[in-house]
Amino acid sequence: MSELYVSNHPLVVHKLSILRKQETGPKKFRELIREIAILLACEATRDLETLEEIVETPLGNADGQLLKEKIGLVPVLRAGLGMVEGIWELMPGAEVWHIGLKRDERTLEPVTYYANKPVEPCVSVCLILDPMLATGGTAVATCDLLKEWGVKRIKYIGLLGAPEGVKRLQDAHPDVSIYLGALDRELNEHGYIVPGLGDAGDRQFGTA
Ligand code: URA
Repeated sequence: MSELYVSNHPLVVHKLSILRKQETGPKKFRELIREIAILLACEATRDLETLEEIVETPLGNADGQLLKEKIGLVPVLRAGLGMVEGIWELMPGAEVWHIGLKRDERTLEPVTYYANKPVEPCVSVCLILDPMLATGGTAVATCDLLKEWGVKRIKYIGLLGAPEGVKRLQDAHPDVSIYLGALDRELNEHGYIVPGLGDAGDRQFGTA
């Protein structure tokens, strides 16, 4: 069974509460997504490997450590886009691979409409960025695709999850750790997380 981390960090729970509010407009919504994504990425990257290095300070030598791993950030279009920029600033050496998966409104199953990665991927870990882990169909399909591309280590970062989506992802990919801002109660009949925050894409891009 994969690791499930649900944040209880005061900054995350505070920002998530404002994010969920119906009256929060797109500009504030985007700011909050960016900030929460950064806080969750700190947790998700806790186990990245570093290389020891002696660094010269103005006053002498210090034992330093530099990041050893090459990271791939994988935003799932379109709602994952708002999670990229802030995390990318923390790790500017990361590659960003875009995956476009949308849910078929009738079956609620994912359909790939865009996938862009380097010809020869050389990352040691990929962070999937998608705010809503709802049915889990998109998350499973994204992991399937990354594994087909040869990615060995995958972590999933989402803002909210439903128990159904977490279970589906854990069953299909027990090696993928999941990092969430909160785990909500359930899915409704349209596959939306309840209480959730509505449609994360529409709320970011003002298309509701
Ligand atoms: N996608 C969303 O944007 N919101 C949900 O609640 C579920 C999937």
